[in-house]
Amino acid sequence: MRIVLVGPPGAGKGTQATRLAEKLSIPHISTGDLFRANISRQTELGKLAKSYMDAGNLVPDEVTIAMAKDRMEQPDAENGFLLDGFPRNVSQAEALDELLTTEDMRLDAVLDLEAPEDEVVKRIAGRRICRKDSSHVFHVTYSKPKTEGVCDVCGGELYQRDDDAEDTVRKRLEVYHTQTEPIIDYYKAQGLVVTISALGAVDEVTGRAMEALKRDGDGA
Ligand code: AP5
Ligand code: MG
Repeated sequence: MRIVLVGPPGAGKGTQATRLAEKLSIPHISTGDLFRANISRQTELGKLAKSYMDAGNLVPDEVTIAMAKDRMEQPDAENGFLLDGFPRNVSQAEALDELLTTEDMRLDAVLDLEAPEDEVVKRIAGRRICRKDSSHVFHVTYSKPKTEGVCDVCGGELYQRDDDAEDTVRKRLEVYHTQTEPIIDYYKAQGLVVTISALGAVDEVTGRAMEALKRDGDGA
């Protein structure tokens, strides 16, 4: 399956993507995680991305699309992938369509995670991620690690993302509404959008997402 996950910052895209990717046996491709891995390796791409990310803005399309394309062309993505955080504006969605068409492929679904602003703000405020792998995500109240400050998965140090500061979160939400939300209409025109509520326990949301994808896969 080829799936795009969309939703505001803090809706739980990364949390759900990890679980869904495992259940569906497809790789979880997060452009945010790819940028953060570049930042920790201090690559030129990482340095460039950090300046945009810390301001809550999108990293320029040219570098983002090239990075996403490169990842989607890895052998493990041959039979499908779950995209988290890409595409994030209409021109990225057009670039993805073009790429898929060249390969004679298409998306199966765009899963839209809906969550009200007060909830995403609470989720982001308590989020802690792993220094070794930013796809390992916890929350000080809702998803506590067994040992405070230590990643359950790999023992890495947990920390708060630089772009989770209050002002930056406000900017990221604004960017989501102005630049990312329009892709929902873009994909609605292709009949691909499945919207679910991101409220409730993590497992409950995963169940809801699997049901919705199954229904969609059946053509309902
Ligand atoms: P990115 O890393 O993609 O951030 P985002 O889209 O803002 O989304 P988040 O990662 O903040 O939230 P999430 O929905 O993944 O929530 P999570 O699962 O962590 O992008 C960061 C930046 O990179 C962008 O601002 C941009 O600069 C750049 N970038 C990335 N992609 C780009 C692109 N394509 N083009 C240009 N620039 C790009 O959950 C949040 C918290 O809630 C966690 O603590 C979690 O434990 C908790 N939680 C999750 N589910 C539940 C639940 N059901 N109940 C209670 N708590 C929950
Ligand atoms: Mg994320």
